[in-house]
Amino acid sequence: MKIKNLFKLVLPVLLLIVSQPAPAQLPRETEAQKAQRMKWWTDARFGMFIHWGLYALPARHEWVKNRERMTDEQYQKYFELFDPDLYNPKEWARMAKEAGMKYVVLTAKHHEGFCLWDSKYTDYKSTNTPCGKDLIKEYVEAFRAEGLKVGFYYSLIDWHHPDYTIDSRHPQRQESDEEYEKLNKGKDMNRYREYMKNQVRELLTNYGEISIIWFDFSFPGKNGKGRQDWDSENLLKLARSLQPGIIVDDRLDLRDVEGGWDFTTPEQYKVAKWPEVNGKKVPWETCQTFSGSWGYYRDEYTWKSPEQLLELLIESVSKGGNLLLNVGPTARGTIDYRAQERLKAMGEWMKFNNRSIYMCTQAPEEFTAPPNTLLTFNPETRRLYVHLLSYPMGSLTLSNMADKVKYVQFLHDASEIRFGTGREASANDLTLQLPVQKPPVIIPVLEVFLK
Ligand code: GLC
Repeated sequence: MKIKNLFKLVLPVLLLIVSQPAPAQLPRETEAQKAQRMKWWTDARFGMFIHWGLYALPARHEWVKNRERMTDEQYQKYFELFDPDLYNPKEWARMAKEAGMKYVVLTAKHHEGFCLWDSKYTDYKSTNTPCGKDLIKEYVEAFRAEGLKVGFYYSLIDWHHPDYTIDSRHPQRQESDEEYEKLNKGKDMNRYREYMKNQVRELLTNYGEISIIWFDFSFPGKNGKGRQDWDSENLLKLARSLQPGIIVDDRLDLRDVEGGWDFTTPEQYKVAKWPEVNGKKVPWETCQTFSGSWGYYRDEYTWKSPEQLLELLIESVSKGGNLLLNVGPTARGTIDYRAQERLKAMGEWMKFNNRSIYMCTQAPEEFTAPPNTLLTFNPETRRLYVHLLSYPMGSLTLSNMADKVKYVQFLHDASEIRFGTGREASANDLTLQLPVQKPPVIIPVLEVFLK
C-alpha cells in the first residue's frame, strides 16, 4: 500500500479520536466550591415536588401498576385516556411561588416509564396520548417565568421499557431464579442504559438551564439494581457535562464515589439530627407528601395539617436541611383542593415569616432552644429565630443569653418584645414578656438580634 493511501485511511480515524470530547469527569471540588455551587439551593430551603403521570388516572398510588401486578396491556387504558385538559402549569407555578417555594422538581418519567416530553427514543410519551403535548416544555417555561429554579426527576426504574429486566421491584416480579431467567431472555440492559443516556441528554439539552436532577432509585443486591445496571458514573458524568452547575440527589448508588452525589434524601421521615457522612454534616433535603402517596390518590385521607407541614419545614431548616413538598396533580391537570388549601396556608405564614427560613440554618450550639420551640439562624445577619410551636403563657426564658441579646421582636409584625430577668431565672437568663394572646399566626416567630 502506498504511503498516501495509508494516510487516507488513518487520517479520518485520527481526526475522529482528536475531535471526541475529553471524557467528562465527576467534579473534584473543594468543600467550599461545592457549598458555593449549591448555595442557591441551601438558601432556598423550600421546594415543590410534582409527581404526575398516567397513575393519576387510577388515582390510587403511583406504584399502582406494581402493587396490582398489572401487565402492560392492563395498564394501557390509562395511556389511551390520558387527557389533562385543564393543565396550566402557570397556575402550578403561581401556587408554588405564593407558598414560598423557590424551586421545583417534576417527574419527567416515573417508574411506570411514561414520558411527559416528546422524547425521540420512545413512543410511550404524552405527545402520543389524547393530550398531544410536550408537557415538560410548558412546565419549564411556566416555573421559570415565576423565578423558580427548575429540576427534573428521572426514574432509573422503568416498568415499560422492553429491555428493562424484571427484578424484585417489578410488577412482573417472580418467585424463582428460573422464572426470572425465562422472562428476561432477550432483554438487553445495554440498550436500556443507552436509552437512559439518550433521554437524559434530551432533557438536559432541550429545555434550557436545568438546576436539579433527581435520579430514583437504586436497590442493589439479588434481583435488584445498582450502579452497574444503570452505568451510574457515566450517566452522572453526562448530566454534569451538559449542565455543569446541576445539583444531584444520592440515589444512583454512588454514595462512596467522590462527586457521585450532592445531597442526601431522607424520605417521609423527620431526621433526628443533621445527617452526617464520615462524621461530616452533609447537605440534605427531606421529601414529603401531604398525605401518603406521591401520585394523586383520591381516597387517601391522611392529610397533614398546615401546622404540621410548617413544623416540618421549620424543623428541617433548624437541622440545616431543605423540604421538598410534593403535590400529585389530577388527571385533569389540576392540583387537588386539599393541596391548594395547604399551600395557601403555608404561603400566608411564609409571607410574614420567611426571614426565619431563607438563608437560615441550624443555630450555633451555644444557643439552647426553650421547650416547645425550634431555632433557626441566619449566619449572615446573625439573627436567631425562635419558633413557638406551643404558645407560652406570659413569658419565655432564653437560658444563658442575657449577655448576647440586643433586641427582640415578633417577626410577623416587627413589634417589640420586652425582656428582663425572670423571678426564678439565673443571672444570665433572659425572660421575654409575651402578650397573653397568641398572635394570629399559626406558628409565631421571635426574631432575636444578637450583640
Ligand atoms: C420512592 C418511590 C417513589 C417516589 C420517591 C420520592 O423512591 O419509589 O414513588 O417517587 O420515592 O422520593
